[in-house]
Amino acid sequence: KKVVLAYSGGLDTSIIIPWLKETYGYEVIAMAADVGQGEELEPLQEKAIKTGASKIYIEDMKEEFITDFIYPTLKAGAVYERKYLLGTSFARPLIAKRLVEIARAEGAEAIAHGATGKGNDQVRFELTVKALAPDLKIIAPWREWNIRSREDAIDYAEARGISVPVTKKRPYSMDRNLWHLSHEGADLEDPWNEPLQDLYMIITPPEKAPDQATYVEIEFEKGIPVAVDGKAQKPLELMSYLNQVAAVNGVGIADMVENRLVGMKSRGVYETPGGTVLYAAHQELEYLCLDRQTMHFKEILSGKYAELVYDGVWYSPLREAMDAFVDKTQEVVTGVVRMKLYKGNCTPAGAKSPYSLYNEEFVTFGEDEVYNQKDAEGFINLFGLPLKVRALMKQGKK
Ligand code: ARG
Ligand code: SIN
Repeated sequence: KKVVLAYSGGLDTSIIIPWLKETYGYEVIAMAADVGQGEELEPLQEKAIKTGASKIYIEDMKEEFITDFIYPTLKAGAVYERKYLLGTSFARPLIAKRLVEIARAEGAEAIAHGATGKGNDQVRFELTVKALAPDLKIIAPWREWNIRSREDAIDYAEARGISVPVTKKRPYSMDRNLWHLSHEGADLEDPWNEPLQDLYMIITPPEKAPDQATYVEIEFEKGIPVAVDGKAQKPLELMSYLNQVAAVNGVGIADMVENRLVGMKSRGVYETPGGTVLYAAHQELEYLCLDRQTMHFKEILSGKYAELVYDGVWYSPLREAMDAFVDKTQEVVTGVVRMKLYKGNCTPAGAKSPYSLYNEEFVTFGEDEVYNQKDAEGFINLFGLPLKVRALMKQGKK
């Protein structure tokens, strides 16, 4: 009997290996996904085997993460509860999809993950498995075992000869990939506490950012970023460049108390440097290129899309339908946006598009053929009619 485990090499997923063997008699196949968390994954090869796995897959998923998960969400303009750019949320379906593929290739009967029973991540992993491979068993040790603290976990590891990293661990629960880094727990659990200055691991705190602004020009084609500062770039280069310039300038910090799908609120601090710039730039282009009605309808959809991604319902007919709508709107979202990055701020500094609907001559106050000011009177009369009727009735007039 085989199980495929989402493995990071950390303490938690390490002890899951012997636990699965002892509790279920499984042969454990580990899968470590490279989603740009910036860690060397090669050493996990030896580590996983030493810990008792029979095999490990190390999967480079960076490019797929950007093109198949980040870009659709960016095009949709999806932001959860107006702040969170969903960095952890959309990485989970990607990882779970690969777990399923490996389970199939290995003839495994189950998949396992190290998410706790109190969070969103368990939902995202498991909805993906249900949608793609309904017959696979799902094992979530955190919902089953008696390990409750880091100390318990260390004891469990040491009793089985698993080496525990001696480096002083940061007290936060973190999740990192090429899009973002999340921090939760410890002093952040009190929303009255400002994040400590040394919390940030990617972004320079705005106070310490350069006194000179940096400009960056991003070119989009149908809603997808394709070039920076006039140079065509592959998705990965583009992301890492934007991450770097934004981080140096203090751009991309979001601090919020969010509603978890599983009911409780939780405090999170997110570092999403490049992503913050991309969202802002993409939006600037939409201001130029989308007509009023499409834009307003898309705003409604954005909130729904964010909720869907947050809730882990990625593999669903609704997402496919929303993507079809979004892709249609993005046919005209082509052009260049210049953004100014300065001490934590990311502000527009210019935008142009061959599909721009903005026309200087139409908005200026001269005589012209497109806009006849006399038309406005009738328009206002009818548009204001319900207000006028109500006011008349209140006055007792018929
Ligand atoms: N609260 C965020 C979310 O639900 C971040 C979760 C971070 N996950 C983690 N395993 N540390 O998407
Ligand atoms: C976890 O509980 O595994 C992390 C937090 C979350 O999933 O929301």
